[in-house]
Amino acid sequence: MKKLPKDFIFGGATAAYQAEGATQTDGKGRVAWDTYLEENYWYTAEPASDFYHRYPVDLELSEKFGVNGIRISIAWSRIFPTGFGEVNPKGVAYYHKLFSECHKRHVEPFVTLHHFDTPEVLHSDGDFLNRKNIDHFVDYAAYCFKEFSEVNYWTTFNEIGPIGDGQYLVGKFPPGIKYDFEKLFQSHHNMMLAHARAVKLYKDNGYPGEIGVVHALPTKYPYDPSNPGDVRAAELEDIIHNKFILDATYLGRYSQKTMEGVNHILSVNGGKLDLREEDFEMLEAAKDLNDFLGINYYMSDWMRAFDGESEITHNSTGAKGGSKYQLKGVGRREFDVDVPRTDWDWMIYPQGLYDQMMRVKNDYPNYKKIYITENGLGYKDEFVDGTVKDDARIDYVKKHLEIISDAITAGVNVKGYFIWSLMDVFSWSNGYEKRYGLFYVDFETQERYPKKSAYWYKKLAETQLIE
Ligand code: BG6
Repeated sequence: MKKLPKDFIFGGATAAYQAEGATQTDGKGRVAWDTYLEENYWYTAEPASDFYHRYPVDLELSEKFGVNGIRISIAWSRIFPTGFGEVNPKGVAYYHKLFSECHKRHVEPFVTLHHFDTPEVLHSDGDFLNRKNIDHFVDYAAYCFKEFSEVNYWTTFNEIGPIGDGQYLVGKFPPGIKYDFEKLFQSHHNMMLAHARAVKLYKDNGYPGEIGVVHALPTKYPYDPSNPGDVRAAELEDIIHNKFILDATYLGRYSQKTMEGVNHILSVNGGKLDLREEDFEMLEAAKDLNDFLGINYYMSDWMRAFDGESEITHNSTGAKGGSKYQLKGVGRREFDVDVPRTDWDWMIYPQGLYDQMMRVKNDYPNYKKIYITENGLGYKDEFVDGTVKDDARIDYVKKHLEIISDAITAGVNVKGYFIWSLMDVFSWSNGYEKRYGLFYVDFETQERYPKKSAYWYKKLAETQLIE
């Protein structure tokens, strides 16, 4: 039986917009998602898990079930309703109360500044494609670092990769643009620049805590490793989703191989990037200052050579087999692979997490430590007799923790794991039916019910044994 270290964090992850609800309460400014969900989806971020009011319950449950860390994000538009300018004191007071409750319950808050929810005013003004908004983000970060001195762990951004992906490739996040690689890479680059500036500022001011960034790192394998076209497709997909942002984080520049791939994709699809010399000076200045890397990992993909037009169909209902993903000049995903997959066509493959951890260790040796900041199983849970017997979730988490233990044995410095999610929250482009939580949330009454996985997690946290 495998065992995790004694000082390991057994955490649970949340995000402001997916958990808090109260989207118009106490002076909160609108975010682009408010409008986008109202116009395009069958659900909104109300009530979500009403974490804005129920956080004492969730933290009490956390303590009771051995959860000793929580990922929380600050809603930028609660602090600065338009993204900049006047501070909203009620928003500031809320987060002070929340962090204080975390500490009271011995649940360490790992706080993210941006989890997909740019204030609407800045979003309509180009979001991170507009360099002025990098300045606004850094000002917001500077304010938070100073104001929330009780926070010991800061994350600048959650998943720069999937944000750009959702906004400019798949088109399932506002502003809903598809197949625009210029915007995709420019957004990645500008957000990495904003990250670097915030990290540098944090360190220059001598704050005592730790700071890092959270990247989603889905592993991309060639469907047929002996087919050069499949190998190339996997490499290009990896550049889009992983390598471009990892290079920016830890090399402070884009390697020749990365730029060759980016230029190829842009030459086929059109587009030109605005990459400036001073950008690279900033990335270079921050590359060794990251205290940790957060890895979010859910799935891997298998890629095949492809020379047709781009077409992506996102499975947002959990009707298995509804996904299609092919990109011009890149490749296409093969879903018919001998690997289990979720109802949302996410391929379950713990080895992919191992490969990403080893990759960080080998290719970016200036990384200091890793937290697995999200991992979990999205499922249509069946609530029976006041609980959910989520054996599939336990099995999923167990297998991923075993591989984490193997990576630690192989010398990767992994210090904690945050299950996505602590309690059920709403899913950006899948609504309320796709649940991940340790605690079941009745979204009508907002009552919480521990699932079987919560009891399993408690034992794990107490013994560190992965049974
Ligand atoms: C990550 C995000 O991409 O995956 C979370 O950081 C998100 O915010 C999670 O909810 C699961 O994705 P989904 O689409 O199943 O909700």
